[in-house]
Amino acid sequence: MKKFTLLLAFAVTSTLMAADGAALYKKCITCHGDKAQKKALNKSQIIQGWDAAKIESALHGYKDGSYGGAMKGLMKAQIASYSNEDIKTVSEYISKLK
Ligand code: HEC
Repeated sequence: MKKFTLLLAFAVTSTLMAADGAALYKKCITCHGDKAQKKALNKSQIIQGWDAAKIESALHGYKDGSYGGAMKGLMKAQIASYSNEDIKTVSEYISKLK
């Protein structure tokens, strides 16, 4: 019984995590596409297929101003309100899109 409860708790937690990633990615869809398959505003690289660590480091770079091209100011505004935890979650979510 205890084992079952643990399993159930785990299942619920992972579903919540997945929902979180989707919620955090929602506002990115307009520019990057629902599967991260678009060049945002025809400027960005296509981030579909990037691994989570690469996305995470790009997003941290936008946030602290150490990464990006001509339109990095725009991405800085997008990611400014995201915590480190949010960045990690959304990066993992994007890395699984296809
Ligand atoms: C208003 C359009 C727009 C929105 C919304 C947007 N982005 Fe971007 N994104 C861009 C543009 C334009 C670039 C390229 C910026 C540059 O010059 O470096 C970019 C770049 C990126 C990159 C790096 C790709 C590269 O070219 O190096 C990542 C990763 C990324 N965005 C993730 C996200 C995430 C995650 C969100 C949602 C929190 C998001 N973006 C929301 C337009 C957008």
